[in-house]
Amino acid sequence: MGNLTTQLGRLATVAFGGLFLAISGSFAEDAGNLYNTNFDINAGLRYFERQCSRCHGFDAKGNDETGAPDLTGRLTRASSEVGIFNIIRTGIPGTAMLPVAADLPDSQVWQLVAYIGSLSTNPANIDLPGSVVSGSRLFTNKGDCNSCHMIDGQGGRLGPDLSRVGERRSPEELLSDLLNPHDDVAPRWWTMRVTENDGTVREGLRMNEDSFSLRIMDNDANLWSYPKNQIASFERVEASTMPSYTQTLSDSEVDDLVAYLFSLRKEN
Ligand code: HEC
Ligand code: HEC
Repeated sequence: MGNLTTQLGRLATVAFGGLFLAISGSFAEDAGNLYNTNFDINAGLRYFERQCSRCHGFDAKGNDETGAPDLTGRLTRASSEVGIFNIIRTGIPGTAMLPVAADLPDSQVWQLVAYIGSLSTNPANIDLPGSVVSGSRLFTNKGDCNSCHMIDGQGGRLGPDLSRVGERRSPEELLSDLLNPHDDVAPRWWTMRVTENDGTVREGLRMNEDSFSLRIMDNDANLWSYPKNQIASFERVEASTMPSYTQTLSDSEVDDLVAYLFSLRKEN
């Protein structure tokens, strides 16, 4: 996993965790990129093709002849969105990297920043150590993830649908989902532990609850309904029902699952 962690470290520097340095003067401020929708990314791409690709290449992977570096991985001169903004706005003195036209509005510079940011989260540009094919086998075989998770209509409903999880989770977050499932569990996935009057304890996802009754779904997808005044007690459990895989899967198996999950997108 050292391998993945190093790569993720590299990613994180360009993936903009949201920590921006405030820089004084005419430089960009600490507000993050407000021009970061798909529309902006596409506008940035079009501008890039016209003004930047002749040196950096149409795929932004750099060009040895012009000496313009690859912009799809970790940048050497910037580690934040603001840093990239400033390079584009002011250029890199003493090199072929010139500033953009002074009358180019900041909004368009931010669109370029958004485009460059999108390159580092594009799965085609991310070289993860795991194997997508092995990960997909693990998901249904040894990992038994499909007993709780649905992908493209196949699987269980005891956890979130993962059909497009690669669009909403970074490789780093997916790794943490597998190793530390109890961090940040959304209320939708909290469970209830009900103690019946005869002492029987049942636990399950909280499906419905109002003042008088509650309904839970246990791990075998059985529904249990209870009038609240006919049970001994109930409590909410804010931990995940998903086990941690630190012990049961090897580092390389976890890498494979991360690669597979990250590949799950609409286009597939
Ligand atoms: C005439 C060639 C040329 C053009 C056009 C050009 N660049 Fe560059 N760019 C370079 C070179 C050369 C460097 C490396 C300078 C250095 O670090 O020595 C560079 C560096 C960069 C870097 C810093 C990369 C890093 O790893 O830190 C960014 C970001 C960048 N360019 C973005 C752009 C954008 C966006 C455009 C279009 C608006 C653009 N460049 C247009 C030649 C060019
Ligand atoms: C017993 C049921 C269960 C099993 C088995 C299970 N999960 Fe989960 N999983 C959940 C639940 C519930 C959540 C939501 C709560 C949370 O964040 O942990 C979840 C969350 C996730 C998430 C985060 C999804 C998101 O949208 O944020 C990922 C990724 C994930 N699981 C992958 C896996 C993989 C891969 C396996 C197999 C190695 C697996 N799960 C096995 C129940 C399960």
